[in-house]
Amino acid sequence: MTFMQFKERPSRAKGVIEADRRLLELHLYPGNACNRACDFCTVFGSPQGDGSDYSPELLDAALQTVVLGAQGTIKFYGGEPTLKAKNVIWAIGYLRQQGFQGAIVIYSNGIQAEQLLQILAADPLQTTTASLNYSIATGDGAPQMPLQSLNLLAAHEQAHPESIAIGHPAIVDSGRGVDPFTGAEARPQDSHLCPHCYPVLTAKGQFHACPFAVENQSPHFQLGNAQSDPATVAHNFRAFFDWLDTVHQPYAVTHNLPACTVCWKHLEELPVPNFVESQT
Ligand SMILES: C[S@@+](CC[C@H](N)C(=O)[O-])C[C@H]1O[C@@H](n2cnc3c(N)ncnc32)[C@H](O)[C@@H]1O
Ligand code: SF4
Ligand code: SF4
Repeated sequence: MTFMQFKERPSRAKGVIEADRRLLELHLYPGNACNRACDFCTVFGSPQGDGSDYSPELLDAALQTVVLGAQGTIKFYGGEPTLKAKNVIWAIGYLRQQGFQGAIVIYSNGIQAEQLLQILAADPLQTTTASLNYSIATGDGAPQMPLQSLNLLAAHEQAHPESIAIGHPAIVDSGRGVDPFTGAEARPQDSHLCPHCYPVLTAKGQFHACPFAVENQSPHFQLGNAQSDPATVAHNFRAFFDWLDTVHQPYAVTHNLPACTVCWKHLEELPVPNFVESQT
């Protein structure tokens, strides 16, 4: 069996906000503790990284911010979610118990395949799926995961089609970035266009505008915190997208820079998006 078994997932509508307060998708980020330290990692993942547990209060903030019906999606990433499999399993149970009916996606390097499969199996609605790190699944740009793990995951995908996908091969210039990247040259690395991701709620209670730049503490990304009014977070998310289109992208084009390089190295030259402070 090979990684070719895993399919890429199409991306969904971007920037969707329902009833002025609920985002179609939300990422959850516990910190950058990881069992790898990829030389291109956007979040500086490493065994020395940070890792907090998800709490009921934190998940309550997520539940107030994301679409709760079947269309909603919550994405767990990190760092490596399987390092805290027990807490992730608890968090999925809590989200379901509190009425979240949407999709749950676990971004994982797949090395701890058994823990990853335990996480997928723990969802009472059986709609939790995984997305694997392209480089670690293929061995292009990082040491491949152990074949035993790969075979276990491939067998699961064969038995449960579309339960384990493979991530996008593009490498963006954020965090450790593109300079040290050793994978195939054909992999895209330099778009002027931001992919317009959905934001992140970190386990420390911060709403951050970008999952790729979550370790960048610039004010340009600060949408609010777990105590903020969800309508304020949604407003600030929209303001961030407006800023991407009217300030960030023109700057990237004029200076002939990849989109993520602008966020990583040039933000001090750009005004902060038109954010409002939370009233709560
Ligand atoms: C930061 S990782 C965290 C989850 C897990 N450790 C993993 O590697 O899948 C989440 C996703 O970001 C991707 N990623 C990491 N660095 C990247 C970069 N410089 N450009 C694009 N994607 C990147 C990984 O391939 C992975 O699919
Ligand atoms: S890309 Fe994933 S596996 Fe690699 S260091 Fe970052 S968090 Fe860890
Ligand atoms: S351009 Fe900026 S906001 Fe867009 S993905 Fe890259 S780092 Fe994130």
